Amino acid sequence: MEEEIKRQNEYIDKCREWLSYKEKEKGRKLTACVNTFGCQMNARDSEKLIGILEKIGYVITESENADFVIFNTCTVRENANLKVYGHLGHLSNVKKKNPDMIVGLCGCMMQEPTVVEKIKKSYRFVDIIFGTHNIFKFAEIFYNRIENDRMTIDIWEGTEQIVEDLPVKRQFPFKSGVNIMFGCNNFCTYCIVPYVRGRERSRKPEDIINEIKRLVADGVVEVMLLGQNVNSYGKNLPNPMTFAELLTEVEKIEGLERIRFMTSHPKDLSDELIEVMKNSKKICKQLHLPLQAGSSRILKIMNRHYDKEKYLELVDKIREAVPDISLSTDIMVGFPGETEEDFLETLDVVDKVRFDCAYTFIYSKRTGTPAAAMEDQVPEDVVKDRFNRLLEHVNKIVNENNGKDIGKVMEVLVEEKNPQLDGYVTGRLSNSTVVHMVGDMSLIGKIVNVRLDESKGFYYMGTIIE
Ligand code: SAH
Ligand code: SF4
Ligand code: F3S
Repeated sequence: MEEEIKRQNEYIDKCREWLSYKEKEKGRKLTACVNTFGCQMNARDSEKLIGILEKIGYVITESENADFVIFNTCTVRENANLKVYGHLGHLSNVKKKNPDMIVGLCGCMMQEPTVVEKIKKSYRFVDIIFGTHNIFKFAEIFYNRIENDRMTIDIWEGTEQIVEDLPVKRQFPFKSGVNIMFGCNNFCTYCIVPYVRGRERSRKPEDIINEIKRLVADGVVEVMLLGQNVNSYGKNLPNPMTFAELLTEVEKIEGLERIRFMTSHPKDLSDELIEVMKNSKKICKQLHLPLQAGSSRILKIMNRHYDKEKYLELVDKIREAVPDISLSTDIMVGFPGETEEDFLETLDVVDKVRFDCAYTFIYSKRTGTPAAAMEDQVPEDVVKDRFNRLLEHVNKIVNENNGKDIGKVMEVLVEEKNPQLDGYVTGRLSNSTVVHMVGDMSLIGKIVNVRLDESKGFYYMGTIIE
């Protein structure tokens, strides 16, 4: 492993040499842009790409007119793919004006052979393509492209490797995502993630703890532990460990103030974890617990391994242990064979749980998943109608919940200068609700006590209490 890191650092050096030559040729610094689609995993991967790009010597920009543009792609739903093709169409024109521009594609979409075929055929101007398993090889792949001057493709079908300790550039100085595991073994029948992210692999607890300690020493006060199903963390380690045990260790890290995690799969959420959350001073009062559907019949066909009753029981247990917890969820409508009765079960769970926030999706057929081959795909107009009704239900409840903490004094982690209101800063409560208040930039990254004066729907206006 150390050897691999050494190798990659050598490639970073070689790329840097090439870049400084290019800088002289052009008489200016060169810029790079990483555009991220999809989930927190991709966001974290992009921080790794940016870390490497900065080390090579690129100036990072948000503009897609850069000298090097990378799309870190997502394929969880058809829409995610369409977005990437849209951006690519635009880039093809930009590149005509700047033929030296380098275009890279990576991430989940690239793990699908049909996508790579399409790019090879219809998007010839793309320079490098790599996947989710070999992101650590980015500098090497880039260098191969420089040397050979033609489309360079490097996709791995899977991996056992976890490469630690390459450069990372955090988006925020005071908070960071931390991968605790990669991949997914659950094979929910609608979902493409296990095919594009590979089998579940947990990082060693000592690697995770050391990374967080280093982050804390560098000013981080909040971490988000990342995995497709964090509740199954550690099962396959040489010395197995539960997620609850890992959290207990993370809690001990001095200087770390807040711990978040996602995503929790309801089937693996243990009593042990609820107990740890109850007793923790640092775990945030927020839980993302994807429901997907309320009908036990549909949940079974989805291969989710819980039913409506178990989900509701779990919510009761969590709320009893942590009464002020904020619950968010993912819900899908239009899974193959979903009937009106099934859909009403989903609305019933929404009414019973009263989620603080729900991300709602229309089922999207993903080639290669079992659900794609199922008969009874639900007609589009029926799905649209259900989606709108679901949204109405969710929004009504979210609106009723808004403002429930008004008048209270609560801790806020100040995250940024308010982009709209001069003299204001913006932060988040433990339950993730946004709060705006008068304050200056020196507060960024600090936790302050704030009285919540006014509710504006999704956010509060507050006053810092000394
Ligand atoms: N690992 C997480 C989810 C990752 S994908 C979990 O198990 O909860 C994020 C969300 O996208 C899922 O919760 C699901 O609601 C949605 N999703 C996944 N596949 C989808 C598909 N084929 N169509 C529509 N939504 C999908
Ligand atoms: Fe997809 Fe299910 Fe894995 Fe989540 S748990 S990533 S929904 S297969
Ligand atoms: Fe999308 Fe890949 Fe995440 S498919 S949701 S970016 S794991």
